[in-house]
Amino acid sequence: MRTQVGIVGAGPAGLLLSHLLALRGIESIVVETRSRAYCEARQRAGVLECGSVQVLREAGLADRLDRLGLEHGGIYLQFGGQRRRIDFRDLTGGRTVTVYAQTEVVKDLIAARLAAGGAIEFEISDTEVAAVTTARPVLRYTGADGVRHEVTCDAIAGCDGFHGICRDAIPAGLRTVWESGYPYAWLGILADVPPSTDELIYCHHPAGFALHSLRSPQLSRLYLQVPPEEDIAAWPDDRIWAEMQRRFALPGWELKEGPVLEKGITPMRSFVCSPMRHGRLFLAGDAAHIVPPTGAKGLNLALADVTVLAGALISLLRDGRGELADAYSDSCLDRVWRATHFSWWMTTMLHATPGAGSLEAQLQLSQLRYVTSSRAAATSLAENYVGYRPAATPG
Ligand code: FAD
Ligand code: DHB
Repeated sequence: MRTQVGIVGAGPAGLLLSHLLALRGIESIVVETRSRAYCEARQRAGVLECGSVQVLREAGLADRLDRLGLEHGGIYLQFGGQRRRIDFRDLTGGRTVTVYAQTEVVKDLIAARLAAGGAIEFEISDTEVAAVTTARPVLRYTGADGVRHEVTCDAIAGCDGFHGICRDAIPAGLRTVWESGYPYAWLGILADVPPSTDELIYCHHPAGFALHSLRSPQLSRLYLQVPPEEDIAAWPDDRIWAEMQRRFALPGWELKEGPVLEKGITPMRSFVCSPMRHGRLFLAGDAAHIVPPTGAKGLNLALADVTVLAGALISLLRDGRGELADAYSDSCLDRVWRATHFSWWMTTMLHATPGAGSLEAQLQLSQLRYVTSSRAAATSLAENYVGYRPAATPG
């Protein structure tokens, strides 16, 4: 088999890349170990930066996003018995974020690819990439029917997430990895209850961080800081709600409870791999970098990477020009490191570090008072949250 770009992984990165390439007449195949139903149901991120929305809109992918997405002009920071708003519109010249679940982005992308006759192979196994430093890299996999395939490509995109195989195709001696864990995790729930807030609440509390987000006017999404090795079995629904009530408590405000539809625990880490390219293999999204979720950056970085990558591959494969491919890693890593710092900063400002002395909490509270009272500090948070800097759609 022969195609121009072999794409490993049907997450947001792989699917958007395939779509952006097809818009410019470049063919690709996407191979994915999981089923379509699994990819479409996997609960993950929920906030799109304005640049991500723009990319999806310009790519003709925003019909449902424009109908169902909820535009938010700010967030709340709650700490020390008060809830203060950061006004993104005011601080960033009118920019906003849009609450639209990753599950919906993935559904829209899969539907668009299949409607356009795009090739997505679900439930494959034993993915291999080879000959990536030649002009004809090879992608091998076993299809759902058990048949082994070999696809000769012009380039391969490793969009296979943190646990994928593509990153290891860059020899260890040629890549540098920076990694750090956090002494806590997030317990997330999806609840069948209208959100108790009009905008997200990021809540600092001595017992640990909590976040109130949403999926729609009928569905709430909430998170609690828990110990890193926590067993979800230790958290029956009534314990989760009691802990939410304790952390979000504010006089005159009520947290509405409802049936818990789903719950799970997500570990947290910061991870960056450089370079994001080796020969004709290009890494994008979680395959190359992971941020803790507190800044809502993971999905947005994945979409930004492939927006840049699509431009680089179009230039390379259509026009025979390699400059953008050569610049790909550096131009993505600039944004990645900004988001890595922002996510680490939001995380360490808002979470209670187990075993830390009371000095840490005082420093966090001071920082929270500062970002909610100084326009300069608030502007820095706001411009990072709405996206610094957006990637432009390839021409
Ligand atoms: P992924 O979405 O991981 O997609 C990679 C795809 O590759 C997967 O479908 C996988 O099955 C497939 N794959 C893996 N190995 C192979 C292989 N060998 N062959 C073929 N296919 C393969 N971000 C936020 O901003 N906020 C959040 O609340 C948030 N919550 C998260 C919760 C969890 C549990 C996780 C894991 C991530 C969360 N993130 C969150 C991060 C965000 O969801 C990711 O950054 C985003 O999914 C990255 O997209 P991606 O396409 O790069 O990778
Ligand atoms: C959501 C997740 C985040 O990590 C975040 O910072 C904001 C919202 C969410 O799942 O809705």
